[in-house]
Amino acid sequence: MSLNTTAFGLDFNTPLCLLSGNAGYGTEYLKVSGFNYDAVGAVFLKGTTEAERYGNPAERVTETPYGLMNAIGLQNPGAATVISELLPKLNWDGKPHFIPNISGFSIDEYASLARAFDQTPVPAIEINISCPNVKKGGAAFGNDPDLSAKVVEACRAVTSKPLIVKLSPNQTDIAEGARRCIDAGANALSAINTVSAMAIDIHTRMPRLGNNQGGLSGPAIKPIALLAVHKIYQVAKPHHIPIIGQGGITNAEDAIEFMLAGATLVGMGTALAKDPLIANKIIKGIQKYMNSYGFTHVSQLTGALELHDNSAGCTPASCLK
Ligand SMILES: Cc1cc2nc3c(=O)[nH]c(=O)nc-3n(C[C@H](O)[C@H](O)[C@H](O)COP(=O)(O)O)c2cc1C
Repeated sequence: MSLNTTAFGLDFNTPLCLLSGNAGYGTEYLKVSGFNYDAVGAVFLKGTTEAERYGNPAERVTETPYGLMNAIGLQNPGAATVISELLPKLNWDGKPHFIPNISGFSIDEYASLARAFDQTPVPAIEINISCPNVKKGGAAFGNDPDLSAKVVEACRAVTSKPLIVKLSPNQTDIAEGARRCIDAGANALSAINTVSAMAIDIHTRMPRLGNNQGGLSGPAIKPIALLAVHKIYQVAKPHHIPIIGQGGITNAEDAIEFMLAGATLVGMGTALAKDPLIANKIIKGIQKYMNSYGFTHVSQLTGALELHDNSAGCTPASCLK
């Protein structure tokens, strides 16, 4: 049974990824007792901007039923420091792959970041066009297919490395957003980023987050993310563009659902805060499932979803049983 998989020209140990903003700059998790990268195919580094950023005022995270809201505000040391001081600490043997996540406040900034990472050993670049936590730039790009395409085009012009575009669920038609990003030169799509949200403290009558609003992640968004991946897959499949499915994965069943909906790789973000060793457990669960159903290669799960045939419409036999 094989858990190795291939996507956008790279080989991955396993289809599991650690998601941006939840695994630091790749070295932090190695300090967690018992952690090793064997179960992981890729680690997406924390969103990086040109200049260093201190992020948003506290509170930056708050729990909601079955979810987590965050408004970190892209705290990061800036691209120059990431490139000169943090990337050299990582292994570049592809086990796992370390992939930077770039976030810009203008199209020029995105292009400048893509150009800067193009000159490094990174195997691919993830473009965060959908971060809902910043007051200008990110949300507007990801929510508008025209602007999304312009960002991708600008990055495509300055790098030949694979570009992974991370799509926002906060747009009217995520499949249309995906189509425009593919046309503009995306090699892969991540879906979904966090869902714009708010929580209010009735005693202070103030929003719980210092930024007033934030992005919802965790199990609460999983059904939204699954439908998004299913819709994007219809657009991406004919172009052989792989999807990195994400949004609320906390166990093997969740990961398998995303693959059946069309994901080639799957990622965990919020779940890592509760259990940093979760990838090992998820891999075992995927192996067990593959054994039970006779799958020999993990890629056979991608898009294996079978839809109900509703072409006959509602009949007494189908609707009233
Ligand atoms: C605390 C936190 C920080 C995040 N930071 C980033 C980021 O810097 N760049 C980015 O593209 N996504 C960021 N995300 C979004 C995650 O990478 C992921 O797409 C999203 O949370 C959905 O997955 P999950 O439900 O497994 O967390 C962040 C999410 C959380 C919870």
